[in-house]
Amino acid sequence: MRQHKVIIDTDPGVDDAMAILYACLDPSIELLGLTTIFGNVTTDIATRNSLALLELAGQDLPVARGAEKPIVQEAKPVAWEVHGKEGFGDVPPMLPGSKPVDESAAEFICRLVNENPGEITLCPVGPLTNIALALELDPGIANKVKSVTLMGGSMDEGGNVTSHAEANVWQDPHAADMVFAADWEVIMVGLDVTHQVICTPKDFASMVEPAPKLGGFLNDAAQFYFQFHRDENGFDGCHMHDPTAVMSIVRPDLFSIDETPVSVILEGDEIGRTIRASKTERSAVKVCFGIEVEAVRNLFLETVKNGY
Ligand code: RIB
Ligand code: CA
Repeated sequence: MRQHKVIIDTDPGVDDAMAILYACLDPSIELLGLTTIFGNVTTDIATRNSLALLELAGQDLPVARGAEKPIVQEAKPVAWEVHGKEGFGDVPPMLPGSKPVDESAAEFICRLVNENPGEITLCPVGPLTNIALALELDPGIANKVKSVTLMGGSMDEGGNVTSHAEANVWQDPHAADMVFAADWEVIMVGLDVTHQVICTPKDFASMVEPAPKLGGFLNDAAQFYFQFHRDENGFDGCHMHDPTAVMSIVRPDLFSIDETPVSVILEGDEIGRTIRASKTERSAVKVCFGIEVEAVRNLFLETVKNGY
Protein backbone atom coordinates (compact mmCIF):
# COMPACT_ATOMS: atom_id res chain seq x y z
CA MET A 1 0.00 0.00 0.00
CA ARG A 2 1.35 3.45 -0.82
CA GLN A 3 2.43 5.39 2.25
CA HIS A 4 0.98 8.85 1.57
CA LYS A 5 -2.60 9.57 0.50
CA VAL A 6 -2.50 13.06 -1.01
CA ILE A 7 -4.94 15.58 -2.51
CA ILE A 8 -3.19 18.42 -4.35
CA ASP A 9 -5.04 21.74 -4.58
CA THR A 10 -3.52 23.49 -7.53
CA ASP A 11 -3.42 26.42 -9.99
CA PRO A 12 -1.40 24.81 -12.83
CA GLY A 13 0.91 26.61 -13.61
CA VAL A 14 4.35 25.34 -14.60
CA ASP A 15 5.70 24.47 -11.15
CA ASP A 16 2.31 23.01 -10.27
CA ALA A 17 2.74 20.68 -13.25
CA MET A 18 6.12 19.64 -11.85
CA ALA A 19 4.45 18.91 -8.48
CA ILE A 20 1.55 16.96 -9.99
CA LEU A 21 3.71 14.82 -12.28
CA TYR A 22 6.17 14.20 -9.45
CA ALA A 23 3.24 13.01 -7.29
CA CYS A 24 2.11 10.69 -10.11
CA LEU A 25 5.61 9.18 -10.34
CA ASP A 26 6.65 8.86 -6.68
CA PRO A 27 5.85 5.26 -5.63
CA SER A 28 5.21 6.30 -2.01
CA ILE A 29 2.38 8.67 -2.99
CA GLU A 30 -1.24 7.63 -3.60
CA LEU A 31 -2.58 10.72 -5.38
CA LEU A 32 -6.33 10.71 -4.67
CA GLY A 33 -7.19 13.61 -6.94
CA LEU A 34 -6.72 17.27 -7.74
CA THR A 35 -8.77 20.29 -6.75
CA THR A 36 -8.40 23.45 -8.78
CA ILE A 37 -8.08 27.11 -7.97
CA PHE A 38 -7.32 30.47 -9.61
CA GLY A 39 -3.91 32.05 -9.14
CA ASN A 40 -1.40 31.38 -11.92
CA VAL A 41 -4.38 31.06 -14.28
CA THR A 42 -8.16 31.24 -13.99
CA THR A 43 -10.04 28.39 -12.32
CA ASP A 44 -11.33 27.37 -15.77
CA ILE A 45 -7.81 26.98 -17.14
CA ALA A 46 -6.56 25.39 -13.90
CA THR A 47 -9.29 22.76 -14.24
CA ARG A 48 -8.57 22.12 -17.91
CA ASN A 49 -4.83 21.89 -17.25
CA SER A 50 -5.32 19.53 -14.29
CA LEU A 51 -7.43 17.14 -16.38
CA ALA A 52 -4.92 17.33 -19.23
CA LEU A 53 -1.92 16.66 -16.98
CA LEU A 54 -3.49 13.54 -15.48
CA GLU A 55 -4.34 12.27 -18.98
CA LEU A 56 -0.76 12.96 -20.09
CA ALA A 57 0.45 10.92 -17.12
CA GLY A 58 -2.06 8.15 -17.86
CA GLN A 59 -3.72 8.61 -14.46
CA ASP A 60 -7.50 8.10 -14.17
CA LEU A 61 -8.05 10.36 -11.15
CA PRO A 62 -10.81 12.83 -10.17
CA VAL A 63 -10.48 16.56 -10.60
CA ALA A 64 -12.84 18.80 -8.62
CA ARG A 65 -13.30 22.38 -9.69
CA GLY A 66 -12.72 25.05 -7.06
CA ALA A 67 -13.63 28.61 -6.26
CA GLU A 68 -13.66 31.37 -8.86
CA LYS A 69 -12.53 34.16 -6.51
CA PRO A 70 -11.11 34.87 -3.03
CA ILE A 71 -13.37 34.53 0.04
CA VAL A 72 -13.29 38.24 0.93
CA GLN A 73 -11.15 40.48 -1.27
CA GLU A 74 -11.69 41.17 -4.95
CA ALA A 75 -9.86 38.84 -7.33
CA LYS A 76 -6.27 39.79 -8.19
CA PRO A 77 -4.87 39.50 -11.73
CA VAL A 78 -3.69 35.97 -12.63
CA ALA A 79 0.06 35.46 -13.01
CA TRP A 80 0.09 34.84 -16.76
CA GLU A 81 3.43 36.71 -17.05
CA VAL A 82 5.04 33.92 -15.01
CA HIS A 83 3.33 30.83 -16.42
CA GLY A 84 1.98 31.99 -19.78
CA LYS A 85 -1.61 32.76 -20.75
CA GLU A 86 -2.54 29.05 -20.94
CA GLY A 87 -0.55 28.07 -17.86
CA PHE A 88 2.18 25.92 -19.38
CA GLY A 89 4.39 28.58 -20.94
CA ASP A 90 4.46 28.38 -24.72
CA VAL A 91 2.92 24.88 -24.80
CA PRO A 92 -0.40 25.17 -26.68
CA PRO A 93 -3.58 24.48 -24.67
CA MET A 94 -4.07 20.74 -24.10
CA LEU A 95 -7.78 19.88 -24.39
CA PRO A 96 -8.71 16.95 -22.12
CA GLY A 97 -11.26 14.31 -23.02
CA SER A 98 -12.31 13.99 -19.37
CA LYS A 99 -14.50 16.28 -17.25
CA PRO A 100 -14.29 17.40 -13.62
CA VAL A 101 -16.44 15.59 -11.05
CA ASP A 102 -19.80 17.12 -10.08
CA GLU A 103 -18.63 18.01 -6.57
CA SER A 104 -16.99 21.34 -5.75
CA ALA A 105 -13.40 21.26 -4.52
CA ALA A 106 -14.56 21.89 -0.95
CA GLU A 107 -17.18 19.11 -1.14
CA PHE A 108 -14.62 16.70 -2.65
CA ILE A 109 -12.07 17.47 0.07
CA CYS A 110 -14.60 17.07 2.89
CA ARG A 111 -16.02 13.81 1.51
CA LEU A 112 -12.62 12.15 1.05
CA VAL A 113 -11.31 13.34 4.43
CA ASN A 114 -14.43 11.97 6.16
CA GLU A 115 -14.05 8.69 4.27
CA ASN A 116 -10.36 8.42 5.21
CA PRO A 117 -10.03 9.94 8.71
CA GLY A 118 -6.43 10.57 9.77
CA GLU A 119 -4.97 9.39 6.47
CA ILE A 120 -5.04 12.28 3.97
CA THR A 121 -2.43 14.98 3.46
CA LEU A 122 -3.91 18.06 1.85
CA CYS A 123 -1.22 19.68 -0.30
CA PRO A 124 -2.35 23.13 -1.45
CA VAL A 125 0.10 24.70 -3.89
CA GLY A 126 -2.06 27.67 -4.89
CA PRO A 127 -4.22 30.20 -3.06
CA LEU A 128 -5.91 28.61 -0.02
CA THR A 129 -9.50 29.51 -0.90
CA ASN A 130 -10.71 25.91 -1.36
CA ILE A 131 -9.14 24.81 1.92
CA ALA A 132 -10.84 27.64 3.79
CA LEU A 133 -14.17 26.82 2.12
CA ALA A 134 -13.76 23.16 3.10
CA LEU A 135 -13.21 24.25 6.73
CA GLU A 136 -16.37 26.37 6.55
CA LEU A 137 -18.35 23.49 4.99
CA ASP A 138 -17.21 20.95 7.62
CA PRO A 139 -15.07 22.31 10.49
CA GLY A 140 -14.66 18.74 11.72
CA ILE A 141 -12.17 17.97 8.94
CA ALA A 142 -9.54 19.76 11.04
CA ASN A 143 -9.53 16.71 13.33
CA LYS A 144 -9.47 14.20 10.47
CA VAL A 145 -6.79 15.54 8.13
CA LYS A 146 -3.35 13.98 8.61
CA SER A 147 -1.63 17.23 7.63
CA VAL A 148 -1.95 20.35 5.53
CA THR A 149 1.39 20.65 3.74
CA LEU A 150 1.19 23.89 1.82
CA MET A 151 3.40 25.81 -0.55
CA GLY A 152 2.94 29.39 0.53
CA GLY A 153 4.00 32.21 2.75
CA SER A 154 7.38 33.58 3.70
CA MET A 155 8.80 34.26 7.16
CA ASP A 156 12.20 35.87 6.73
CA GLU A 157 12.64 35.77 2.94
CA GLY A 158 10.35 38.64 1.97
CA GLY A 159 7.74 38.36 -0.75
CA ASN A 160 7.73 37.48 -4.44
CA VAL A 161 4.64 39.34 -5.59
CA THR A 162 5.08 42.33 -3.30
CA SER A 163 8.13 42.95 -1.13
CA HIS A 164 6.19 41.40 1.77
CA ALA A 165 3.80 38.79 0.36
CA GLU A 166 4.20 35.41 -1.32
CA ALA A 167 1.84 34.90 -4.29
CA ASN A 168 -0.43 32.13 -2.96
CA VAL A 169 -1.11 33.98 0.29
CA TRP A 170 -1.42 37.35 -1.47
CA GLN A 171 -4.07 36.00 -3.84
CA ASP A 172 -6.35 35.16 -0.86
CA PRO A 173 -4.93 36.38 2.47
CA HIS A 174 -8.19 35.84 4.40
CA ALA A 175 -8.34 32.20 3.34
CA ALA A 176 -4.69 31.71 4.28
CA ASP A 177 -5.28 33.23 7.71
CA MET A 178 -8.21 30.84 8.28
CA VAL A 179 -5.99 27.88 7.37
CA PHE A 180 -3.23 28.98 9.76
CA ALA A 181 -5.79 29.67 12.52
CA ALA A 182 -7.47 26.26 12.38
CA ASP A 183 -6.47 23.62 14.94
CA TRP A 184 -4.75 21.11 12.62
CA GLU A 185 -1.21 20.24 11.62
CA VAL A 186 0.07 22.75 9.07
CA ILE A 187 3.49 22.45 7.46
CA MET A 188 4.40 25.71 5.72
CA VAL A 189 6.78 25.22 2.78
CA GLY A 190 7.37 28.87 2.01
CA LEU A 191 9.87 31.01 0.18
CA ASP A 192 12.34 30.53 3.05
CA VAL A 193 13.07 27.11 1.55
CA THR A 194 11.63 27.16 -1.99
CA HIS A 195 13.85 30.09 -2.99
CA GLN A 196 16.82 27.81 -2.29
CA VAL A 197 15.69 25.06 -4.69
CA ILE A 198 16.67 26.05 -8.23
CA CYS A 199 16.84 23.85 -11.32
CA THR A 200 18.49 24.96 -14.56
CA PRO A 201 17.64 24.55 -18.25
CA LYS A 202 20.37 21.91 -18.36
CA ASP A 203 18.69 19.99 -15.51
CA PHE A 204 15.38 19.96 -17.37
CA ALA A 205 17.01 19.07 -20.70
CA SER A 206 18.54 16.04 -18.96
CA MET A 207 15.04 14.64 -18.27
CA VAL A 208 13.96 14.56 -21.92
CA GLU A 209 15.81 11.48 -23.18
CA PRO A 210 15.09 9.19 -20.21
CA ALA A 211 11.49 10.44 -19.84
CA PRO A 212 10.42 11.75 -23.26
CA LYS A 213 6.72 12.09 -22.41
CA LEU A 214 6.64 13.72 -18.96
CA GLY A 215 10.21 14.98 -18.89
CA GLY A 216 9.79 16.27 -22.42
CA PHE A 217 6.56 18.08 -21.49
CA LEU A 218 8.10 19.66 -18.38
CA ASN A 219 11.12 20.79 -20.37
CA ASP A 220 8.87 22.43 -22.97
CA ALA A 221 6.62 24.08 -20.39
CA ALA A 222 9.56 25.34 -18.31
CA GLN A 223 11.16 27.46 -21.08
CA PHE A 224 8.77 30.39 -20.54
CA TYR A 225 9.19 30.02 -16.75
CA PHE A 226 13.00 30.09 -17.16
CA GLN A 227 12.75 33.31 -19.16
CA PHE A 228 10.62 34.90 -16.43
CA HIS A 229 13.35 34.10 -13.89
CA ARG A 230 16.09 35.47 -16.17
CA ASP A 231 14.13 38.70 -16.63
CA GLU A 232 12.86 39.12 -13.06
CA ASN A 233 15.37 37.33 -10.83
CA GLY A 234 18.50 37.58 -12.95
CA PHE A 235 19.49 33.91 -12.94
CA ASP A 236 19.34 31.11 -15.53
CA GLY A 237 17.05 28.68 -13.75
CA CYS A 238 13.72 28.46 -11.94
CA HIS A 239 12.39 28.16 -8.41
CA MET A 240 10.93 24.71 -7.69
CA HIS A 241 8.20 26.00 -5.35
CA ASP A 242 5.41 23.44 -5.70
CA PRO A 243 7.34 20.20 -6.18
CA THR A 244 9.33 21.11 -3.05
CA ALA A 245 6.10 21.11 -1.04
CA VAL A 246 5.14 17.66 -2.36
CA MET A 247 8.63 16.30 -1.67
CA SER A 248 8.44 17.54 1.92
CA ILE A 249 5.61 15.03 2.44
CA VAL A 250 7.71 12.03 1.40
CA ARG A 251 11.07 13.26 2.76
CA PRO A 252 10.46 15.43 5.82
CA ASP A 253 13.99 14.50 6.92
CA LEU A 254 15.33 16.81 4.22
CA PHE A 255 13.71 19.82 5.87
CA SER A 256 14.30 21.58 9.19
CA ILE A 257 11.42 23.36 10.85
CA ASP A 258 10.67 25.89 13.55
CA GLU A 259 7.25 25.79 15.22
CA THR A 260 5.43 29.09 15.59
CA PRO A 261 1.84 30.26 15.29
CA VAL A 262 1.37 32.12 12.02
CA SER A 263 -1.03 34.88 11.07
CA VAL A 264 -1.53 36.86 7.88
CA ILE A 265 -1.66 40.63 7.57
CA LEU A 266 -5.08 41.39 6.07
CA GLU A 267 -4.87 45.07 5.15
CA GLY A 268 -2.53 47.87 4.18
CA ASP A 269 0.73 47.78 2.23
CA GLU A 270 1.80 44.51 3.84
CA ILE A 271 -1.38 42.59 3.03
CA GLY A 272 -0.60 38.92 2.49
CA ARG A 273 2.52 38.96 4.67
CA THR A 274 2.84 35.93 6.96
CA ILE A 275 4.10 36.77 10.45
CA ARG A 276 4.82 34.99 13.72
CA ALA A 277 1.65 35.20 15.85
CA SER A 278 1.46 35.09 19.63
CA LYS A 279 1.28 31.64 21.16
CA THR A 280 -2.02 32.39 22.90
CA GLU A 281 -3.89 33.08 19.67
CA ARG A 282 -3.53 29.89 17.65
CA SER A 283 -1.78 26.53 17.29
CA ALA A 284 1.80 26.40 16.12
CA VAL A 285 2.61 25.85 12.45
CA LYS A 286 5.63 23.80 11.33
CA VAL A 287 7.50 26.40 9.26
CA CYS A 288 10.30 25.10 7.03
CA PHE A 289 13.47 27.14 7.31
CA GLY A 290 16.20 24.68 6.30
CA ILE A 291 16.45 22.29 3.38
CA GLU A 292 18.91 19.80 1.92
CA VAL A 293 18.88 21.52 -1.47
CA GLU A 294 20.89 19.03 -3.52
CA ALA A 295 18.98 16.05 -2.14
CA VAL A 296 15.65 17.70 -3.02
CA ARG A 297 16.81 18.69 -6.50
CA ASN A 298 18.11 15.19 -7.16
CA LEU A 299 14.95 13.57 -5.81
CA PHE A 300 12.86 15.54 -8.28
CA LEU A 301 15.14 15.00 -11.29
CA GLU A 302 15.75 11.29 -10.65
CA THR A 303 12.06 10.59 -10.02
CA VAL A 304 11.09 12.17 -13.34
CA LYS A 305 13.98 10.49 -15.20
CA ASN A 306 12.84 7.13 -13.85
CA GLY A 307 9.38 7.88 -15.23
CA TYR A 308 8.31 7.96 -18.85
O1 RIB B 1 4.83 31.88 -4.84
C1 RIB B 1 4.93 30.69 -5.59
C2 RIB B 1 3.58 30.04 -5.73
O2 RIB B 1 2.71 30.87 -6.48
C3 RIB B 1 3.64 28.71 -6.49
O3 RIB B 1 2.63 27.86 -6.03
C4 RIB B 1 3.36 29.12 -7.90
O4 RIB B 1 2.78 28.05 -8.67
C5 RIB B 1 2.33 30.19 -7.68
O5 RIB B 1 1.09 29.55 -7.48
CA1 CA C 1 1.01 26.93 -7.66
